[in-house]
Amino acid sequence: KKVAVFASGNGSNFQAILDAVEAGTLKAEISLLVCDRPGAFAVERAARAAVPFFIFNTKDFMDKAAYEMLILEQLKKLEIDFIVLAGYMRLIGPTLLKAYEGRIINIHPSLLPAFPGKDAIGQAFAARVAKTGVTVHYVDSGMDTGEVIAQRSVDIEPGETKESLQAKIQRVEHELYPAVVERLLNGQKEAAL
Ligand code: GRF
Repeated sequence: KKVAVFASGNGSNFQAILDAVEAGTLKAEISLLVCDRPGAFAVERAARAAVPFFIFNTKDFMDKAAYEMLILEQLKKLEIDFIVLAGYMRLIGPTLLKAYEGRIINIHPSLLPAFPGKDAIGQAFAARVAKTGVTVHYVDSGMDTGEVIAQRSVDIEPGETKESLQAKIQRVEHELYPAVVERLLNGQKEAAL
């Protein structure tokens, strides 16, 4: 199956997916990186892995429909089957949702529905909850509202800092996300992980 990854920033989850493909634990073709920030390190990772990338700047477009139409053109040209959001900091609009309904997933660093939106790790830390975690979910038109596919919890221990919590969450993300993508591409939505 052909996968497009969308990222806006560092792209460590994108890297985890590339590494899993390289290791043979994820059987997929990562055919495209879509990125809305020209300077993002995710683009560097794509270049290093010889993955084609499509970079755009929203300022060059009238609205979301305009740039999503262009993205959709690229996805169709490459016959992309599945879209994986990995730190893509924009809501997906109707143009892409209609074309890829049920085939777009996202990873979010909290136990949704708790702490949706930006800085979920900071939100959980500030709320002094005993545990938070990671959620992989289908994407709908809302902010982190789609159907949950998999969750992993992470304890917030005494003496935990926001930085140490972030590191723990990222480790869990990098393990969980490629495994979920592999499972979904093989059509085993309900299988226990
Ligand atoms: C991750 O924490 C992910 O859950 C959230 O954005 C972050 C992206 O990190 N959606 P990276 O760019 O993959 O390093």
